Amino acid sequence: MRITAAVAPAEGEPLAMQELELDDPRPGEVRVRMVASGICHTDAIVRDQWYPVPLPAVLGHEGAGVVEAVGDGVSRVGVGDHVVLSFASCGECDLCLTGHPAYCATFYDLNFSGRRPDGSAAYTADGGDDVSSHFFGQSSFATHANVYERCLVKVPESAPLDLLAPLGCGIQTGAGAILNRLDPPAGSSVVVFGAGAVGMAALLAAVVAEAGTVVAVDPVASRRDLALELGATHAVDPHDGDPVERIREITGGGADYALDTTGVPAVFRQLSDCLGTLGHGAMVGATTPGTEGTVDIGTTLLSGQTLHMVIEGDAVPQTFIPRLIGLYEQGRFPFDRLVKHYAFDDINTGFADSESGEVLKPVVRY
Ligand SMILES: NC(=O)c1ccc[n+]([C@@H]2O[C@H](COP(=O)([O-])OP(=O)(O)OC[C@H]3O[C@@H](n4cnc5c(N)ncnc54)[C@H](O)[C@@H]3O)[C@@H](O)[C@H]2O)c1
Ligand SMILES: [Zn+2]
Ligand SMILES: [Zn+2]
Repeated sequence: MRITAAVAPAEGEPLAMQELELDDPRPGEVRVRMVASGICHTDAIVRDQWYPVPLPAVLGHEGAGVVEAVGDGVSRVGVGDHVVLSFASCGECDLCLTGHPAYCATFYDLNFSGRRPDGSAAYTADGGDDVSSHFFGQSSFATHANVYERCLVKVPESAPLDLLAPLGCGIQTGAGAILNRLDPPAGSSVVVFGAGAVGMAALLAAVVAEAGTVVAVDPVASRRDLALELGATHAVDPHDGDPVERIREITGGGADYALDTTGVPAVFRQLSDCLGTLGHGAMVGATTPGTEGTVDIGTTLLSGQTLHMVIEGDAVPQTFIPRLIGLYEQGRFPFDRLVKHYAFDDINTGFADSESGEVLKPVVRY
């Protein structure tokens, strides 16, 4: 069928609206009519080819929409169901079977190869050339997409899809790093480096977990202000003095838990340095393969600290996203405060506003 997509045409180039041909859903796939899609920082770095998804490509991995057709063997959803889309996993490897699909043995191929496992792409341009599809199993920057069934999270028809879309990656990543991986007990101290969409979701989750001290570190003043409004007890400007010293003061010697959402090597070092004895740090920020972060192993040996690398909040989307929706409905997880909506054909403005720091979570509507 004819569909409209925002295509990433070449490295670093803005997305271009284009009509494409979408093939029929294959066994295990569902055709979703997209209602909304969040824009994640990871879409920008793949557009810029930090990770080599073959271009041209339909990116987008925070889709939400309505099931329009189902391929053979699909059993969990039917036509008309409302769905939020998350990352792809195989469902059969040891990591999937033990509840860690974000570490699926075939995660990279399923989410970043731009092709199905049989080598086909779902989209074709006029002239017959393939356009990469199945980005994070979905490629949601299109009016319609063929999505792996395992990406789907069924949500109630009453739920606002244009708000829920970013739960599929950015919001799940920050909230899951706190609630699934670090799991801070009530009263503990939590530091979040980077108060972007992922960091703000982490901060909201630290408040849900009833952390006693929640510190947001970000150079952007408006983001520090919003962090304080959303429940941070302290906000630190990393360019105003030494943030590690400031955090040690605030936490009375060192933080119990800390999260780096920046992917900046110097910040990763601050993450380790700001932890107290037996502290736990987690890293979610994406950067280019080959980037190194250092840790003072002489000093940290005595501290007994633990560092975690976390993908997609180590979540099982089908159970974690409904939990987040429940918390939102109770008024305890107000991630709607991060969202700003754009028309689909204004998608490049959404990218620009996220990069400038003006908007936390742009969401396009179709
Ligand atoms: N691990 C995963 O599964 C996963 C999933 C989604 C996103 N990501 C990655 O997470 C990162 C964050 O995503 P986002 O959407 O929140 O991006 P973002 O750009 O909105 O947020 C990054 C924040 O870091 C702040 N920052 C920059 N320098 C800093 C410094 N020196 N100290 C403290 N803060 C600093 C920026 O001002 C910004 O607010 C990105 O790298 C993204 O690609 C990873
Ligand atoms: Zn797997
Ligand atoms: Zn993402």
